Amino acid sequence: MNKAITVSNITKSYPGVLANSNVSLEVSEGSIHAIVGENGAGKSTLMKILYGMVKPDDGSISIFEKITQLSSPKDAIDSGLGMVHQHFMLADNLSVLESVILGIDNATLKNINLRRYKSEIMEVINKYNLNINLDKTIDELGVGEKQRVEILKVLFRGAKILILDEPTAVLVPQEVEELFNNLRDLKDNGVTIIFISHKLDEVLEIADEISVMRGGVMVNTVDSENISKKELAEMMIGKSLPKPPERQSSVGDLKILSVENLSASNDDGKDIFNDITFDLQSSEILGIAGVEGNGQRELVEAIIGIQEYNSGSIRLKDEIIDDLGIRERLGLGISFIPEDRQAQALIMDMTLTNNIILGRQSLKKYKTKLTTVNLSNATTASESVIGNFDVKTPNANTIATALSGGNQQKYVVGRELEDNPTLLIASQPTRGIDIGAQALIWEKLRSTRDDGLGVILISADLEELIGLSDRIVVIYQGNFVAELKPDEITPEILGSYMTGLRK
Ligand SMILES: Nc1ncnc2c1ncn2[C@@H]1O[C@H](COP(=O)(O)OP(=O)(O)OP(=O)(O)O)[C@@H](O)[C@H]1O
Ligand SMILES: [Mg+2]
Repeated sequence: MNKAITVSNITKSYPGVLANSNVSLEVSEGSIHAIVGENGAGKSTLMKILYGMVKPDDGSISIFEKITQLSSPKDAIDSGLGMVHQHFMLADNLSVLESVILGIDNATLKNINLRRYKSEIMEVINKYNLNINLDKTIDELGVGEKQRVEILKVLFRGAKILILDEPTAVLVPQEVEELFNNLRDLKDNGVTIIFISHKLDEVLEIADEISVMRGGVMVNTVDSENISKKELAEMMIGKSLPKPPERQSSVGDLKILSVENLSASNDDGKDIFNDITFDLQSSEILGIAGVEGNGQRELVEAIIGIQEYNSGSIRLKDEIIDDLGIRERLGLGISFIPEDRQAQALIMDMTLTNNIILGRQSLKKYKTKLTTVNLSNATTASESVIGNFDVKTPNANTIATALSGGNQQKYVVGRELEDNPTLLIASQPTRGIDIGAQALIWEKLRSTRDDGLGVILISADLEELIGLSDRIVVIYQGNFVAELKPDEITPEILGSYMTGLRK
């Protein structure tokens, strides 16, 4: 078979880290090729090199069997490569049609000739069986739809090779199925797909070939038919798969949080969430299940104090906190793992140590008599997070950008558990984290829960939600529509409540 991509002896080092070491890889034309590996293994670096975003120190790349110099994404696009980023790059107020066209042939919002392109775009949509409505605006779309728009965008730019870095992290099972159907249609039409995921079941389902990276080295490429999940996991982490402990629930009797009749609406008067009431006990993990965009993010942000609410009340232990600001609420022992680590949890060009003080400047241990912060306590705390959560970094003074996605995530989770919080709000706590580190984080969440912590958990990973939660509520269009016992449901059943199919 012809090769869509041949990577030969690529090396890329960063200060203190060999991110790709003499990496070679062949991807057959028209195949789906998965790349797996632990956090920090070098997957994204390799993809950024392929897409012309990062320049390798050494090695070469051939695209469709021609050696190609890639000095920018534009070069990559010209050679037939397209990348679907995990953070969607779409403007909410544009139509789908405008979003797809923007940037092509210097099209701007002023000179855009919509009609001229529409039929060409429809051809692409029909050819690949993409379920997309060009007339909707981006803010009307769910996550899965937005992702399809991103795929359409790169296909319309002539991509013959598609790179997807962790595309399923934000999708519910039904959406993953739809994405996979799309990928199969693309493949049937000759498109080559490179796919990164930490979910080995998915990888085994969709990929023809699987390449495993470890510590910057390409260790093996296997045929997906000839390998089990267990073997794959062992190849990835170099030892056998850790088993998460069985769930044992012993919810405490102290009331940590009560939310009463909470409602919020946006500027147009549309409900964001409506009349939400619930309690959370000590030593309890309450899972909130919902397709992204159904109000769960705003609901937890209301508890932190980021989102305003029109009516209702929130009590933390004995104290009504409605009139308190964010910093005061955090000071009372609320911790927050936001869903978007880069936009909300970290300042990317600051060191890890400085990032640990974020929002905690007024904590006693970080305050000094003068106005400066106590850097030595911050360094100690930072080093302890790095050690306890196995964060791969040269040291505590590395800047956040220099960590791989999963290691940034581990650091954020560790930081939020560092100061013995009363209430932890965890949104997508293991998003982008490899299976080994995921087991570690589950273990930490369970043990701090057993020590009395109350947790509100939001996760698109339904197995995680079911496995960790003591109780699950489903939010749909801003309303709590069901309360479920984790023991009695499967991801499929939960998914059908989340999409409104089951009530
Ligand atoms: N801009 C950078 N500066 C310094 N080091 C970097 C930079 N980008 C990546 N690295 C380092 O290169 C190594 C590989 O990172 P990469 O992002 O490729 O990992 P990954 O396999 O994608 O991991 P993850 O599953 O966590 O996303 C890591 O040790 C990371 O810290
Ligand atoms: Mg990555």
